[in-house]
Amino acid sequence: MSVETERLRSLVATELNRARDRTVLLTEAVDEEDLIRQHSPLMSPLVWDLAHVGNQEELWLVRDVGGREPVRHDIDELYDAFKHPRRDRPQLPLLGPAEARRYVATVRDKVLDVLDHSRLDGTPLVEHGFAFGMIVQHEQQHDETMLATHQLRAGAPVLQAPPPPGAAVPVGGEVLIPGGAFTMGTSTEPWALDNERPAHRVDVATFFMDRAPVTNGQYAAFLDAGGYDDPRWWSPAGWRHRQTAGLSAPQHWQRDGDEWAYTRFGRISRIIPDEPVVHVCFYEAEAYAAWAGKRLPTEAEWEKAARFDPATGRSRRFPWGDEPPTADHANLGQRHLRPAAAGAYPAGASPSGVHQLVGDVWEWTSSDFLGYPGFVAFPYSEYSEVFFGPEYKVLRGGSFGTDAAACRGTFRNWDYPIRRQIFSGFRCARDA
Ligand code: AVJ
Ligand code: FE
Repeated sequence: MSVETERLRSLVATELNRARDRTVLLTEAVDEEDLIRQHSPLMSPLVWDLAHVGNQEELWLVRDVGGREPVRHDIDELYDAFKHPRRDRPQLPLLGPAEARRYVATVRDKVLDVLDHSRLDGTPLVEHGFAFGMIVQHEQQHDETMLATHQLRAGAPVLQAPPPPGAAVPVGGEVLIPGGAFTMGTSTEPWALDNERPAHRVDVATFFMDRAPVTNGQYAAFLDAGGYDDPRWWSPAGWRHRQTAGLSAPQHWQRDGDEWAYTRFGRISRIIPDEPVVHVCFYEAEAYAAWAGKRLPTEAEWEKAARFDPATGRSRRFPWGDEPPTADHANLGQRHLRPAAAGAYPAGASPSGVHQLVGDVWEWTSSDFLGYPGFVAFPYSEYSEVFFGPEYKVLRGGSFGTDAAACRGTFRNWDYPIRRQIFSGFRCARDA
């Protein structure tokens, strides 16, 4: 066995363990009743996420890659996200907490054995450990979803984390990104998912990009200026949604005298003005941008600001370079339970001086979720392809709840423009 394969194997094992530690933390933080209960019709019971993570791991790594016998052949249908919408999941005959824990542990034991016997090359599915990387990312994505469920859960706080770093020098304003072609997407990133591929050239006209995400203080100014009562700032669809849903502030915000307060993971406090705003939907982001005389960036603009290095003409893996994120680069991985102040990560800035593109908050873009030219669904069309179309908007960059394994300059997230239970914020751009 080559040194290279051994190194990759140990990386895969480390990443599988890290994801599982996080899953365990999120599911052991609450009692059995809270695991089974549905905290919002938008979310699955936590115990569904838990067994679904194990089931996907079984399908891809035990059965497909490993060619082994099923661990449980009887539950595939229960944990197929396409068979049962989230709102119906609490009524299903789900595995109970103890059974779900046993199931995911049994699957994991088998997967570690499969990993020991896999050469991690030879087929596109296992090349560079792709299938294992896909499953690591899948578990981390569900961990972020479970973290969003925790934010919707009523009751006493159960999660703890140190506060994020502050900003030695506050960052605001905008930078000019000169026009020209850049390479968007990737054909070489080993664990990139199908929707990030292939690499292709995109011409982007000169534009201005905000150096930081829009903060609570800036957003509160929009609220206080009556922005939610003025249809001028809202798109027709956005205004309709604002009316029917009765939107009046970001989710989890409430009035505290003349000030604003918010609830985060069961703790209430005054808003921190220089932190990026979170829990806004696409329509709210769009309205704020219009009020500010700006607009949302397109997905290509976002990626160019994040990856293009004018000195070399190359696209980087991350804004700061090609090295994976450290705690100095970005607020990722649930190390903190909220976004960090604008300017808190100077080491993570892009060559053009745009900060916090990765981490803190998912950033809404103005783009629909579509396949890149030459897109090929791999290894299954239900990951991305079935969602392509104008009903979903792309979000970029990851949040404080996104793990580094599921985040990079090319990573694409998507959701309906009305959704805001995710850790979604935004930054503005404008034409030059
Ligand atoms: C990429 C976050 C939109 O949660 O719906 C999890 C990730 N896909 N299981 C989602 C995913 C299948 C996906 N997002
Ligand atoms: Fe899933």
